[in-house]
Amino acid sequence: MVPVMDRGFIFGDGVYEVIPVYGGRLFRLDEHLQRLDNSLAGIRLANPMAMAEWTEILERLVQENGGGEQSVYLQLTRGHAPRDHAFPEQTQPTVFISCSPLKPVAAAQLQQGVAAICLEDIRWKHCHIKAIALLPNILLRQQAIDAGAQEAILIRDGVVTEGAASNVFIVKDGVIKTPPKGPFLLPGITRDLLLELADSKGFTNHEWQFGLEELQQADEIWLTSSTKEVLPVTRLDNKPVGTGQPGPIWKQMINLYQGYKRALIAGDAE
Ligand code: PDD
Repeated sequence: MVPVMDRGFIFGDGVYEVIPVYGGRLFRLDEHLQRLDNSLAGIRLANPMAMAEWTEILERLVQENGGGEQSVYLQLTRGHAPRDHAFPEQTQPTVFISCSPLKPVAAAQLQQGVAAICLEDIRWKHCHIKAIALLPNILLRQQAIDAGAQEAILIRDGVVTEGAASNVFIVKDGVIKTPPKGPFLLPGITRDLLLELADSKGFTNHEWQFGLEELQQADEIWLTSSTKEVLPVTRLDNKPVGTGQPGPIWKQMINLYQGYKRALIAGDAE
């Protein structure tokens, strides 16, 4: 049971992670746990468990839920206390972890790509914290859905930050670019892996700040996240991106990504 006075429920005072599981193995678990630790530090909530304890609990949960393909949702809040904005003197964090079946990315989205619209990034200035308070992200995503698109690509002060629930990549003349890490975007685990895979195969790539014009002129746009993996965006604000079809570099990257997943399942990657 979670008390109704839980600060997660009352204030959205907490942080979370979404960790995919392939072949019963937690994908990039150390990186997810490190980001969780950073998010906790960002909201000044002590991490109640060591990495090894988290690992043990998560691995046990995954096995008890039958291994295979799952999506693990992990949330920590500042616990329950009488409603007061200031931190309570003593807190026992509420920890919630759930395992659900991993929904495969729809084949049509991979074949045709998805549509995105550009919206102003109305969020706060600590977007590197994976906070459970997601109201701006929810409103932005819904605005995209209402416009017949799948994702909103966000622009703050003329600069592309990320998607409402994903990171953004562009390709121009064979060069892969994604915005650099900082307070205005979540350091995505999928994003980092993609950069590693690009490096390992010799694709030129840069962590690079770009604006609306560069986004509009891109040959390819991709979205990355633990649930979307690597999705090609083929329409931006109702106009085709590049040829209007998923691009050749995306095809190579998604193959590398799937290869990485197979290595993980075989025990040759983490
Ligand atoms: N969201 N940026 C934002 C704002 C996100 O919410 C997410 C993921 C990402 C991608 O991060 P990663 O590659 O580590 O999943 C970037 C998760 C999946 C969610 O909220 O459901």
